[in-house]
Amino acid sequence: MGGESAGVKTGVSVPEVSYDRRTIRLHWATAVLVTALWGIAQIIDLFPKGAPKISARSVHIIIGVLLGVVLVIRIVWRSRSGHRLPPAKAALRDISPGPCTWCYMRGLPR
Ligand code: HEM
Repeated sequence: MGGESAGVKTGVSVPEVSYDRRTIRLHWATAVLVTALWGIAQIIDLFPKGAPKISARSVHIIIGVLLGVVLVIRIVWRSRSGHRLPPAKAALRDISPGPCTWCYMRGLPR
């Protein structure tokens, strides 16, 4: 799955316009896991010392390990099979100022 497969049916090469489902799911899994880790870390001191706090810490660590696994899967997927999108239109090279913009920014006559 490269970046040019959207137009396969017509034979016209059209760049992909959105990420594939797996890339999107991995992205949201990362977001949910990081949020859960942060949330647990914020409330971990509310747990009484002993078994409850140890359990909360264990959940934090298990989710952390899961996050590590998701990150590895994500890197492998993105480097091998995920859709590659063209650079965003607002990339720095697309909005680089022309000579008049520099005049404007420096207060020189245009
Ligand atoms: C994005 C990922 C992570 C975030 C945002 C995060 C956040 C935090 C924060 C803010 C604390 C301090 C909690 C406090 O105030 O006492 C903490 C504690 C801790 N974290 Fe994480 N963490 C992450 C990943 C991990 C991973 C991957 C592991 C281990 C595999 C881990 C193990 C621990 C442990 C053992 C503690 C000490 C808990 C305690 O006070 O008993 N964390 N984490």
